[in-house]
Amino acid sequence: MPHLLFEPHQRLWLLRTPATSYAVRLDEDDNVRHVHWGAALTPAQARELAERTPPAGSSFDGTAGAEELAGEGGARFGPPGLQVRFADGTRGVEWRYAGHDDEDGHLRIHLDDRHYPLRVTLHYRVYEDSDVIERWTTVENRDERLPITVQRCDSASWTLPRRRDYRVSHLVGGWNSEFQLRRAGVPVAETVFTSRRGMTSHHANPWLALDDGTAGEEHGEVWSTALAWSGSWRITLHRDPAGRTTWTGGHGHEGLTWSLAPGETLDTPVFAGVFTTGGFGAASRAWHAYVGRHVLAHPGEPRPVLYNSWEATGFDVDEAGQAALVARAARLGVELFVVDDGWFGGRVSDRAGLGDWTPNPDRFPHGLRPLSAEVHRLGMLFGLWVEPEMVNPDSDLYRAHPDWVLHMAHRDRTEMRHQLVLNLARPDTCEWAHAWLDRLVDEHDIDFLKWDANRPFTEAGWPGHPDPDRLWIEHTRSVYQIIDRLRADHPGLRIEACAGGGGRADLGILARTDQVWTSDNTDAVDRIGIQHGFSQLFPAQVMGAWVTDSPNVATARETPLRFRFHVAMAGALGVGGDLTSWTEDELKEAAEMVATYKRVRPAVQHGTAYRLAGDGALTAVGYAHEDQFVVLAWCPSRPFGHEPGPLRLAALDPDATYRDQDTGATYSGAVLMRSGLPLSLPKGDHASVLVHLAR
Ligand code: DGJ
Repeated sequence: MPHLLFEPHQRLWLLRTPATSYAVRLDEDDNVRHVHWGAALTPAQARELAERTPPAGSSFDGTAGAEELAGEGGARFGPPGLQVRFADGTRGVEWRYAGHDDEDGHLRIHLDDRHYPLRVTLHYRVYEDSDVIERWTTVENRDERLPITVQRCDSASWTLPRRRDYRVSHLVGGWNSEFQLRRAGVPVAETVFTSRRGMTSHHANPWLALDDGTAGEEHGEVWSTALAWSGSWRITLHRDPAGRTTWTGGHGHEGLTWSLAPGETLDTPVFAGVFTTGGFGAASRAWHAYVGRHVLAHPGEPRPVLYNSWEATGFDVDEAGQAALVARAARLGVELFVVDDGWFGGRVSDRAGLGDWTPNPDRFPHGLRPLSAEVHRLGMLFGLWVEPEMVNPDSDLYRAHPDWVLHMAHRDRTEMRHQLVLNLARPDTCEWAHAWLDRLVDEHDIDFLKWDANRPFTEAGWPGHPDPDRLWIEHTRSVYQIIDRLRADHPGLRIEACAGGGGRADLGILARTDQVWTSDNTDAVDRIGIQHGFSQLFPAQVMGAWVTDSPNVATARETPLRFRFHVAMAGALGVGGDLTSWTEDELKEAAEMVATYKRVRPAVQHGTAYRLAGDGALTAVGYAHEDQFVVLAWCPSRPFGHEPGPLRLAALDPDATYRDQDTGATYSGAVLMRSGLPLSLPKGDHASVLVHLAR
């Protein structure tokens, strides 16, 4: 069965993924209307559904069929995904179908405005190995003389079947508390999820999951979408009084306008969606598999165990201090050593030096090469922290180019963390950033960059530019372009995306980086919740997780080393503590933990993840990979009489026997799935266990 069928009589398109179908049809008014997103349909079933899809009508009374890209104009009163204004002041669109074409699972439906030279193309892409459907839009100004003003251009609108109620799952947070999962009923209202910060943001993530209120972790229908964009964004979820539930989303936030020059085309980012019938767990697994198959550049590569100096040395970075950490990190079995902030210019605190990207001569009298050579000599990769989008006003760069930052005439330049944002939409600034990064990577044998961005946009102006709001798009595109160029020219270079912790985690940045710094909060108890939210969309492979010192620098909580390791082992393990203060016993235990992690890493990083428990007292995840199953279970505290477990496992062969690789105990697969794995958790708070089973 092909991915894509077109039924000319009904002007109906049916897109098919391995387990789902998506159908749209062209109405008599040439609007592309939604027919179906859900379980797999035969062509006959799709035709039957298309018959019932409401024809053109007024959205005033909620009878019109939902549009695939909700426009503005005519009797449309819902949140518009497309808002344009033509040079003569006319707004809105009236469509004339202009054909379609398809190739390799990529369908393009072309729509022209009936009068004005505007073409919009709706894109759909499906794959043979994924139920994720990618959608985006292009808008083209086909006029030879006049610009078109674009006030909104979303990537896609999504529509749910009519049900009594819906519930939305989304991620909220802040610095040090990213990815908190929230579930709430969808009100009869327009609910806006957005970032106006120029970055994906800590506060909301452009991922949603909708269900009718009855789905659970392993059962029920879930419709989930994620936007592949790392700048400002907006998703508006709309439930109308007649019970229709739709959402429209794309890059940019409200109030921005972009001028589309004659002949110009604007491409929006991919807004991907997936439907599953196996609950939130199946939705996450579908996302994880998609990220591995269609987003990441190097999905098969194990993410190395890294060491990062930030919590150990802060801004007090120098050759001797880093060398001491290098020696200890090597003893632990670390594979990648990353020097964080403080190695360059006059950067001895967050007040100065950002932008001056040469090694600080007082701290590194011979440059970074001796340190990089020592790291390599000990068999580790060498990584370096950079923040290419930012500048301290107290820097040579800013003194030379005060006009390179986002700013507006007669307005303050609001500093945050004593820094301003460089306008990378400017070709000269973008070129400069690429040039120094390229040189840095070359000259210092750098294997890994941690790309940080520690503040949002303010006074985001571009004096003298005719279309200043374009910077909201072009800045992010420049970030993408710089990274893409660096990776093309340095094929061995790997990159971690960071924005003051997890402020820039999205499918757009992951298409060009290898992992994400999840949060500056490294407290293992807090991390359980952060990682739970993160795992809704992102696989463990990209989730940077460090073991740091106790008491924790952010929360002052004391936890055992074993607990900290077990929590961090659920992702791409790192160590970030001050190793020079760790005792011999701690170093020995840590080395054992790192060795254990390497043993289970194929399952954690390349297996299929199951959130096995999350009932408050006990949280557990399991990773199924070939004939292995790895369990990590954490119990931060428990009331008297509460014995966690047994823990029911998933995805095992019921007829097989599984052996615990550490204790030698054996279990039948059927018993592990039906009755569960007995957990031998140590007594007391902050108890945790890792169980490595093999068939
Ligand atoms: C924020 C990051 O999240 C930290 O890990 C660290 O790199 C600091 N920035 C450095 O300024």
